[in-house]
Parts: sequence; C-alpha cells; structure tokens
Amino acid sequence: MSLMAALALPGASQAMAQNVQGKPIRAEQLANDNWLLHVSPQETAKYLLLPVEDKAPEAHLKLIVDNQLCRNIDVRMALHKIDYYVPVVLDEFRGHNLVVQAHMNIDRSNRGGVGSEICWANIRLSDAFDQTNRERFRPLYHHTPVYGWMNDPNGMFYKDGTWHLFYQYNPYGSMWGNMNWRHSTSRDLLTWNDEGVAIAPDAHGAIFSGSCVVDEKNTAGFGAGAVIALYTSAGDVQSQSLAYSTDGGRTFTPYAGNPILTADVPDFRDPNMFWNDDINAWNLILAVGQEMRIYSSPNLKDWKEESRFGLGYGNHDGVWECPDLFPLPVDKLNGKQLVNSSTNNSSTITKWVLVCNINPGGPFGGSATQYFVGDFDGHKFTCDSAPQVTKWMDWGKDHYATVSFWGAPKDRRTVLAWMSNWQYANDVPTMQYRSANSIARDLGLFQNGGEWYVSVKPSPEMLAARGKKLKSPTEACEMVVDLKGSATITLANAKGEKVVMTYDDDARTFSMDRTQSGNVAFSEAFPCTTVAPTHGRIKQLRIFIDRCSIEAFDADGHVAMTNLVFPSEPYNSVKVKGGKATIWEVKSEK
Ligand code: FRU
Repeated sequence: MSLMAALALPGASQAMAQNVQGKPIRAEQLANDNWLLHVSPQETAKYLLLPVEDKAPEAHLKLIVDNQLCRNIDVRMALHKIDYYVPVVLDEFRGHNLVVQAHMNIDRSNRGGVGSEICWANIRLSDAFDQTNRERFRPLYHHTPVYGWMNDPNGMFYKDGTWHLFYQYNPYGSMWGNMNWRHSTSRDLLTWNDEGVAIAPDAHGAIFSGSCVVDEKNTAGFGAGAVIALYTSAGDVQSQSLAYSTDGGRTFTPYAGNPILTADVPDFRDPNMFWNDDINAWNLILAVGQEMRIYSSPNLKDWKEESRFGLGYGNHDGVWECPDLFPLPVDKLNGKQLVNSSTNNSSTITKWVLVCNINPGGPFGGSATQYFVGDFDGHKFTCDSAPQVTKWMDWGKDHYATVSFWGAPKDRRTVLAWMSNWQYANDVPTMQYRSANSIARDLGLFQNGGEWYVSVKPSPEMLAARGKKLKSPTEACEMVVDLKGSATITLANAKGEKVVMTYDDDARTFSMDRTQSGNVAFSEAFPCTTVAPTHGRIKQLRIFIDRCSIEAFDADGHVAMTNLVFPSEPYNSVKVKGGKATIWEVKSEK
C-alpha cells in the first residue's frame, strides 16, 4: 500500500488526503517496548513527521539533544492506520545529535507480536509539512488552529490595531495534550494569521491557561511596553509562572524566578490579571477549587492575597476555571440616564463582572460560562445577587473558557469563547484540527427584575463583514430575522437534516434543537435542545452560520446561544413562521 493510500482517510469529514513527502528514517526497537531513532547533526530536513492515529494510546517520546533531555512529548503513534502526520520542527536541533526515545504504551495482550505498529515504518524526514485545509467543517470566518488541538483562549490583548489571541494548543495531535500557547493575530477579528507557538512546556510543566498585559510603566522591570504573560505551570502540581516578551508578543522568555505563585491545593489555575487605577496596582484573579482568589501586586511578580469569592454562590456542579474580572460602565439604560443611588448624581455607574467558567455543571450538561455582577474595590468582590442566583453568559452547549481582551479600544469589553464542550470536544468529526473560537462578542449590562445581567452582542466587526444579500442560507452567512411575536425558524438541507429555532413570545424563551442537525452520533451528549430565557420580548435575531456552528443573538443582547452542528451538506433552505429573514453573506478571506 502506498503512503498516500494509507492516508486516504475514511470518514466524511476528510475532503482530501494529507500530502506527505520525504524520506523514511529507520527506528530501532529496544527492550521493554521502547524505540530509538537517531537524527544526525548533518540532517538538513526541516521536519520529522510522526504518524498519528487518534484512537491509539499516547506513546511517551523523549527528545534527547546532545545527551540532555530537551523535551517530553506524548504522541498517539499510529498502530493500525495513519490518521494524519504531525511535525517535530528540526531547525533548533540542527548541528546537534537528536535522539528520539519512545516508550509505547500498549496493552500487548491482544496484539500480534511486539513491534508490528505501522508508525515506525512510516516516520518521514521532510522539508514540507502539508497544512492545506482538509476539513469541510473548518469554519470560514471563525478562528481555528492550522492543525492540532485547541482549547481555551489565553492571554488575549489588543495593541496598535492588532488583536492578539493565544490559545491552549497541542502541536502533536488533534486531541488534548502537550499544552503550549500558540499565537494568532488579527486586525479585524475575522481573519487570523498564525504566529506559531509562543510558549512551550518547560521543566515546571505544561503551559495551561492564563492572561497577558502590556506593562506600559515597566512595573515588572522587563522594559516599558513589555508584554507579560502569566500562566499555570501544570506539572506534578499547579503553580503560576511568568514569561515576558519584548517583541510585542511574538516570542516569550520564561522568568528565571518561576514559579511566582504556589499553593497547597490541586486545582489552582488560570491566572487573569489587570491594572486597577483604584488601587494603583495590578489585580489577579485565580480559580482555586470551588472559589476564586483575588490578589494584588505592584510588579506582577509578588502577589498578595486580598480575598476569596464564591463559596455558596452560583453553580458548583463542576470545577471552577478560567476566571475574568472587569468593570462595565452603565451610563444609560433603555435610553435613560441612570442615577447612581449611592451618590445621587448621574455620573457613570460601573458594575464589576466576575466570570467563572465551570465544567461540568452547564445548563445542558458539560461546560458553560457563568458570571456574577457586583462591586469590586481592588480588594474584595461583592456580589449583588443572592447566593443561589446563577447567571449564564450563553445558553448553548458550545461556549466555554470565555475571557476578555486586555486593552480593547474605546473601553470595549470584547470576549472570545472556545466553541466546544468537554463532554465531546475530543470526538467531534474533524481530524486535521479540533475546535474553533466563537465570533467576537462585546459585552454590556442590562437590568431585568431588579437583577443586572451581561448583554452579549456580536462585535461591531461582524457588521463590517456583511457582504451581499443572499436568497438562501449558505455554509457561511448571517441571517437577520425580524419577529412579530412567537416564531419558528427551520434551517434545513436536502438530506432532511435540520436545526429548529423557536421563539416563544408567551413563555419568553428562545430554543435551538439540533437533535436532527446531521452527525449527532459521535457522542451521546451531543444531540439536544438548548433553551434560554429572553428577559422580555425580542424583536430581532441575528444568527451566524459557519459550516459547523450556529450562534444566535437577539438585537438587544439579552440572549446568546452557541451550538455546534455537523450536517452532511450545508443547510441551504430556511423557513420562518412568524417573521421575516434577510440573509447576508459574511465576507472572509478564506
Ligand atoms: C479549561 C481548562 C483550564 C486549564 C486548561 C488546560 O478548559 O481545564 O482550567 O488551564 O483547560 O488545557
């Protein structure tokens, strides 16, 4: 069988095979299920291409350079078939002896003999790594990694017209593992450029989620304007580490004094920091077990614990993760100037929003984003609501790890979510890459029944991306539906696959049913109907479709719902009962 034939993959999601070239390299089998492969210092190939099978167990690979352990990586080395290849970039090892020592992690009891795995016969040295898109579900105007696995957005910041997005990334497979921060940049929040890996695991552990700030005043001593990243080093324990960049976020140097913050608890992660004028210092919020810890610091390195929030508040059916804490100004509500009840004047009222992603425990199972609204004085967060009140930022099943950009222009509070759910994120029917981000959203506040809620609207960049009007839906479009009362919107394709969205004007709910949306069989947790309260009447819906996702918002931002779908062909018809749809092309460069 030729190599290309081996890569002509079964499964509808694969539009074309990966083009793999290069020369074979011999691996030697050692005792105890270990393999050894030697790349000579004279080798000029750019990549060592490793054959991967998603369903294989992780083999543990040591990259040993001139006798020193340089990196540990876990790779699902192909046993029965090659799903795709991943590259080890050889540039940094050129001129040195590279030895790859692999320990296979196989239950040999039901396999024919030792060493029959196809991975070892198919490793390649190559100057090319084919990154051409092979996935028909790859979104056109959402951010995705060029290859490999992605989860949480990390360290997002805005500077000089560029939006920076880092993300949890596995360079060695399309399932979770080997956490790095990979980096993308965009000038319009729709078209993203891949900037490569920014922070790779070190001796303190894998690089879990965290945040970035631009240290304009040089408080940390790495230079005015240095980009400072704080992330969780996930080794035997979780601790917080710092890395700095003096080239605008392209490359980072881990701080020699890491870790900078430690604790004696297992779930201690996802640091999110911001400058707070009220205390003329930095604040940091961290997820610690079932609560958030809040710290302050003059220099981003020495952190003092100020307070804790969360025990007894909101939803606790899962692990608290990926926090954020930010002010949202409210100067007008329903067109009326607000009066600050404590000062009795009409100056801007500011509420603080504490974001707490939770997994599991979401309203429809698995992961979701809850939040609390209250006050924060740089030391302590006080929640406005009663402890039993739970508020969700998005009522779909595929909206997690939501955090905001540092330094967004014009005081915008712009967020991105990871558009998946830990219940099935590793199983969705793509292979070259897994997971996309949501479209960017801008947050505000509204009041209903005496409670403050966060409003979620598509960022203005989405309006700018509107292209021509369309007669029927396409795989990448926006539908604007004007409603007269209760309405049913049915998106369908010729295969009979459909997504049914319903606005119930009496119950004041909006729902999305994806039980017959296409491929729903890859996880029992996938088929479902999600339902949201609309906090009053809704008059208009904006529905964004991009190959494998549907994101619905009402015009006032009172309801947001994000769900993945995997139709066998794009939905190309829409029927609206009780309203009128206008469909727009969404312009993107892909
Ligand atoms: C959330 C999360 C974070 C952690 C990261 C690891 O999805 O579990 O808490 O830092 O993913 O990839």
